[in-house]
Amino acid sequence: MTLKGKRILLGMTGGIAAYKAAELARLLGKAGCDVRVAMTEAATRFVTPVTMQALTGQTVWTDLWDPRVADNMSHIELSRDRELVLIAPASADFLAKVACGLADDLLSTLVLARRCGLMVAPAMNVEMWGNPATQRNLRTLRADGIAFAGPAAGDQACGETGMGRMLEPADVVAEVEAFFQPKTLAGKRVLVTAGPTEEPIDPVRMITNASSGKMGFAVARAAREAGARVTLVSGPVALATPAGVERVDVRSARQMFDAVKAAIRGQQVFVSVAAVADWSVKNPAKRKIKKVDGRAPVLEFEENPDILAWVAARKSAPFCVGFAAESEKVAAHAEQKRANKGVPLIAANLVQEALGTDDNAITLFDARGRHPLGRGPKIELARKLVAHIAGMLAKKRR
Ligand code: C5P
Repeated sequence: MTLKGKRILLGMTGGIAAYKAAELARLLGKAGCDVRVAMTEAATRFVTPVTMQALTGQTVWTDLWDPRVADNMSHIELSRDRELVLIAPASADFLAKVACGLADDLLSTLVLARRCGLMVAPAMNVEMWGNPATQRNLRTLRADGIAFAGPAAGDQACGETGMGRMLEPADVVAEVEAFFQPKTLAGKRVLVTAGPTEEPIDPVRMITNASSGKMGFAVARAAREAGARVTLVSGPVALATPAGVERVDVRSARQMFDAVKAAIRGQQVFVSVAAVADWSVKNPAKRKIKKVDGRAPVLEFEENPDILAWVAARKSAPFCVGFAAESEKVAAHAEQKRANKGVPLIAANLVQEALGTDDNAITLFDARGRHPLGRGPKIELARKLVAHIAGMLAKKRR
């Protein structure tokens, strides 16, 4: 499910991060959302309503006493047809108001009067964020079921550094997408491996598999969107960690095995997307091997542990999902792999289609047969895979 047609009310409060809300409105619009904007009086000091009106093509609302609204019910009407109220930036003051249920301007009143979900993207100085009063308010807001997008840590407009920066607009959009995903794995713990492994030959050379990690990271993101607590064990890749996912970085297959062993207890689902090297070099050289003309080195290999097979063979094994990247005869290899590894579900793709790209085509193989997920962006395929896993888990329980 994408954001196409989603009806969002973007509420802006007073803070320098309001400039990011302009870009956010544009990105939401580009994703196909119907965006309406309401601003507090303080927000209009940072960005003008004209800016937001030009970006959304819609009237911008700032006043509870707006004479354009005949019955003075803008605080009710503005939120009634909305599917989400998104406050970005959400100032410390505004979060305090929401936590207390105060309603003394248009935005706080419509938040209190809304029927739909509420997400806040906090933005404030590091000390304001850390203040016990703010922390107390955050606990209240979380207990009230309010969703959070960020904040992040980093440089702040005031010159200080720390927690309280508003998320970048694209990251807020990702959180909005997550908000609308069905929570099919709520309360579950999911472990994912992703990326390649590197097996050293000497301190500067190694053997590796071609893998960008994109599919594994998409699976981790999709599982977290579905409400799971996700741990991602990743080989060396150049990808940002999906929001809300705990990441453990490793290099070699051995290290990946150790990280999986350390994290496996209490997991209900294990999705092994990593392209683990099948062999490592026996006794890698401690010093760089010098080039000698006419004498190419001969490497001796030893087999790496099969991480997925090890997890699947455990007494209290989680629900295991393997990936099969094949260059030919995908179905036959996938079925064979499902049997060999002793896992209930294999996701198969052609390496020619999957490697490094943002799109992929996946077919699932389980005891009931084959289920083509079609072709599409890796995140959408990952969401379909997560839905399939959740369906199989639910059947298992029955
Ligand atoms: O390499 P192979 O084709 O057997 O990989 C199939 C599945 O097994 C993948 O899910 C991969 O992550 C996993 N695997 C593993 N440990 C290995 C090799 C593969 O967990 N040493």
